[in-house]
Amino acid sequence: MSPEPHKRIAATLEERRAFGLLRRLSVFDTGNNVLNLAGNDYLDLARDPAVIDAACAATRRYGASSSASPLITGYTPVHRELEDLLCFWHHCPAGLIWNSGFTANQAVLSRLPQKGDLVLADRLVHHSMISGILQSRARLQRYRHLDLDHLETLLQQAAPSERTIFVVTESVFSMDGDYPDLRAMAGLKATYGFFWIVDEAHATGWYGPAGAGLLTESGCAEAADVIVGTLGKALGSQGAYTLFRDANLREFLINTAGEFIYSTYLAPACAAAASAAIERCRELSARQPQWRAASSDFRKSLAADGWRVPAGDSPIVPVTIGDAEQTMAFGDRLAAQGLRAGTVRPPTVPEGSSRLRLSLKRTLRDEDYLRIRNFLTIAYQG
Ligand SMILES: Cc1ncc(COP(=O)(O)O)c(C=O)c1O
Repeated sequence: MSPEPHKRIAATLEERRAFGLLRRLSVFDTGNNVLNLAGNDYLDLARDPAVIDAACAATRRYGASSSASPLITGYTPVHRELEDLLCFWHHCPAGLIWNSGFTANQAVLSRLPQKGDLVLADRLVHHSMISGILQSRARLQRYRHLDLDHLETLLQQAAPSERTIFVVTESVFSMDGDYPDLRAMAGLKATYGFFWIVDEAHATGWYGPAGAGLLTESGCAEAADVIVGTLGKALGSQGAYTLFRDANLREFLINTAGEFIYSTYLAPACAAAASAAIERCRELSARQPQWRAASSDFRKSLAADGWRVPAGDSPIVPVTIGDAEQTMAFGDRLAAQGLRAGTVRPPTVPEGSSRLRLSLKRTLRDEDYLRIRNFLTIAYQG
């Protein structure tokens, strides 16, 4: 191999190190009395007995692996059951399961928009969506985060030659925990007639009737052309799904998306665990007001303690620190006390907005919230 790639790689790593942005991979063992607010298991379903039992039963029945692409023999009855359940949950005619949210977004956004189309995306949408859009060769314009006036201006400015306009958003944003006015977006769709793709990764379970998400709660799920959701966050499993108003989209992706066609399918255990988790979401949904009020109260108390925290009721609580190295050091001090928080730096978030990302769980009690505040105060004092 020529030495050139090695030099380039070493220079890239050195540059990241110099700016305090080098990423580290560390082993996390849940066994040691750590309060983990760095994951996305918002409803604590990854350890729910019914979910674990379903995963075990599917493994015994179908094996530990699906052992093939879905178009060969990887699509088992538990995958089919999950698909049907998801469609029923969202009152959608067609759905498809994917190995991860990343691949689902990449497949949808690289295949549906094409050269000659325009994609308008919220400035903060997830990397997987941007990665797909860039592959599509459609023109990408980003509107200011949650700024629907800016979105409307871009819709008005779109050239008549632009074949189709796609609008792309998350319903709950992964790093900020905030959300757009989805009803107003549906109103813009009624006026301008775009193709609407909404990623509900962080809203599923926490919001909506039976936990079906924020679009359903806002009464505008029918306006979305594609809904993307993950199985690996509130549903406590792994993998993802897409739901379509037009069943042809499912057929089209089955026929064209390499991520679907050329990859061993999601393990049966993951599909079965997700189906059980959806049932648990249904049972738990009456408690949504409690966990959402707890999020809102916690944010208020953090703000009263002097932290930079936005108001809201989602499970994602960003605590802005600003400087990347300070944020990492802060995260290390919290971990030393037994609190694991997400630490997020550029390029994942904009320069100067490095933050702790605290993801809440429905099972946190008042005393846990007090403990977290104490941990933060102690870590701040150094
Ligand atoms: C908004 C959003 N979409 C998609 C994904 C990717 O999902 P997965 O972890 O299943 O690949 C994430 C992951 O963090 C996300 O935050």
